Amino acid sequence: MNQKKNPLVKTILGIETSCDDTSIAIVSHHKVIANRTFTKISDHEIYGGIIPEIASRNHAIHLNPTLNQVLNDAHMGIKDLDAIAYTAYPGLPGCLHTGKVFAKTLATMLNKPLMKIDHMIAHAYSFAIDRQEIIKYPFICLDASGGHTIIYLFYGFNKYLILNQSNDDAVGECLDKVGRMLGLKYPGGISLDQQFDPSRTNLPLIKHYEPSKNFSFSGIKTFVSNYINQKQMKKQKIDVVQVGSSVLQWCIDELIIKLNHYLSHYYVEYIVIGGGVAANSLLRNSIKKLAKPVVLVEKKYTGDNAAMIANLADLIVSNH
Ligand code: KG4
Ligand code: ZN
Repeated sequence: MNQKKNPLVKTILGIETSCDDTSIAIVSHHKVIANRTFTKISDHEIYGGIIPEIASRNHAIHLNPTLNQVLNDAHMGIKDLDAIAYTAYPGLPGCLHTGKVFAKTLATMLNKPLMKIDHMIAHAYSFAIDRQEIIKYPFICLDASGGHTIIYLFYGFNKYLILNQSNDDAVGECLDKVGRMLGLKYPGGISLDQQFDPSRTNLPLIKHYEPSKNFSFSGIKTFVSNYINQKQMKKQKIDVVQVGSSVLQWCIDELIIKLNHYLSHYYVEYIVIGGGVAANSLLRNSIKKLAKPVVLVEKKYTGDNAAMIANLADLIVSNH
């Protein structure tokens, strides 16, 4: 991609607080020079899911120390920042609000521009962090997180069509809930990835949906819930690895079936993936088998992070 250099905005601070991760990063001259994420998973683990009030209180506690660490890592002072970018949506309202107030205060204090960033579009462009020059259009992006499952067709900078999105649960949410039903460590998506055994995916599950239909992950979740209840009523043992591996395979197959469908309808340069589920080993391997080249996001930038927020802000400045 042609990078037009904006001489006024070289260094951008990114702030991400959409869910439970408090993350702050600095992108300077189109490269991440500092990125710190603070997550206190143990606060939520006992409940088996994110508690919004606890998450927003943690942001309020950790934003300032994280900012100091990031400035320290970058050997910068607060006055070296040229713009402040923050996650404006989508996310948990209280968490977003905490990040917004912090970002606004900084921008007002420093008299620098404040940039509102879309979390899902930031995930979509995270494949290009530290290598913005590789961006070519059109591309298809699978954005798969705990709150959304979306397939975009990007035909220019920040110009896109939504080809598909989940009607109900997101794929990450479904994996987390299935993990919880199976008694696995939170978050379920990571636990299911870790225990995945390709030779144990033989539990018969529901049929895959028509490729042209919107994603739906609540059916498979309900199926597993019924299956577990029946097993428990009959006092039969549940084979956690078999159920977990079969469900993970089903979910990843569902993502691949849809991607394949859109690849046969649209010409694209490549496929990219973003969001927490993009860390999944089975997805990363399966996607490489599709008929188009794939640009994989680095694993460290799949989950929520502020580097992707600063990266998208930097792209907005360059494309302005
Ligand atoms: O993007 P993200 O960090 O937060 C949201 O914006 O929601 O995504 C979190 C989701 C969770 O559902 C988590 O279980 C899932 O990403 N996830 C994974 C893996 N790592 C995180 N799912 C499958 N395999 C993984 N390795
Ligand atoms: Zn996310």
